[in-house]
Amino acid sequence: MLENKTIVLGITGGIAAYKAADIASKLTQAGARVDVIMTESATRFIAPLTFRNLTGRPVITSMWELNSEFSVEHIALAEAADIVAIVPATANVIAKIAGGIADDMLTCTVLATLAPVLLAPAMNVNMFENSVTQDNLAKLRARGFAIVEPAYGRLASGKIGLGRLAESEIIISGIRQVLGRSGDLAGKHIVVTAGGTQEPLDPVRHISNRSSGKMGYSVAEAACDRGAIVTLVTAPVSLPEPIGMEIIHVRTANEMKDAVIKATASTDALIMTAAVADYQPKDIAVNKIKKTTDSLILELIKTPDILSEVKGNFLRIGFAAESENVVDNARQKLVKKQLDMIVANDITSTDSGFDVDTNRVTLIDHDGKVENLPLLTKREVADRIMGKLIKLFAR
Ligand code: CTP
Repeated sequence: MLENKTIVLGITGGIAAYKAADIASKLTQAGARVDVIMTESATRFIAPLTFRNLTGRPVITSMWELNSEFSVEHIALAEAADIVAIVPATANVIAKIAGGIADDMLTCTVLATLAPVLLAPAMNVNMFENSVTQDNLAKLRARGFAIVEPAYGRLASGKIGLGRLAESEIIISGIRQVLGRSGDLAGKHIVVTAGGTQEPLDPVRHISNRSSGKMGYSVAEAACDRGAIVTLVTAPVSLPEPIGMEIIHVRTANEMKDAVIKATASTDALIMTAAVADYQPKDIAVNKIKKTTDSLILELIKTPDILSEVKGNFLRIGFAAESENVVDNARQKLVKKQLDMIVANDITSTDSGFDVDTNRVTLIDHDGKVENLPLLTKREVADRIMGKLIKLFAR
């Protein structure tokens, strides 16, 4: 998604300017061409040399630098950009952009570009909550600017409130999502489930499984990057929340089923990556179960099989985590649950399956076609699944 994209990274004068270095570095490592434009006040917070070294590209700090390759044509970057991202965006630059002011290289570029513009505001809480700033942001949102909301937390002033720059991962996923708007899944609505459901025994304990949610989150992000409108129904995981998609948090299999039914009311595909618990405790104790006996027998009852029960006019893709006869078992599930495709993986191998970043899977479609993929990152697996999904849609 980011490879060979021209990303104009605008940096304005706020204490969070140093955090933009991490973003410039990560975008460059992902293969993007990152051209940094700094406002005069940004250079007071962090040196242009930092960005020059991180991006390997000249950094623009003024419209009047004769040694800049962009100085002659001050809108050259505006034309080259696939996206302009301003990180951090101060109240001042937000106001200038909302008002059409173009008095430095960054605001000129924003006014001249036809590329999408993303703003990641960061400022003092009072400045952020001031109705002028809020009105300006609303105006820009209505004009199609993407805004990555600031986080709540401790600010440079010592105050606690809204105004901290969003985490790098969140800003980068925002950039990816904006770049993906014209992707090959644009206009499709895809529901993805992720994580392992938790079935409570009492107020403090539950039965669950080892799913980290990484595969499901990668699938949701891959779909989003290709322009799909994604609803992610997720069981509890400890991963950063991806942005650019609707996220529905659930805990149990029953909650997941309800959320999936609602989300699939108008969807083009359902991808059940979640590790849904097959059984739940028959009774949930109101109070914490005490250690009063030497042994304890739990009675479990079946949870709903979401994938078998939720059907409709949309493609259905399942996952099969198997420890033996991987392809045969997965194929049986494909037939039994009447799926369009199933993604089978062998959970006994250490570099594949639970909790690791890589996976080795086999894709089996309803025509019986079997495709063995090599060991890939979960994100690469997700991209291959998207490739297959596009073919299924075309059919
Ligand atoms: N699944 C589901 N609801 C369940 C159990 C599983 O929707 N209660 C979905 C999973 O999300 C997955 C697919 O069905 O996409 C296969 O899940 P898996 O756990 O491999 O198979 P099960 O049907 O549970 O069969 P078994 O546990 O006996 O292997």
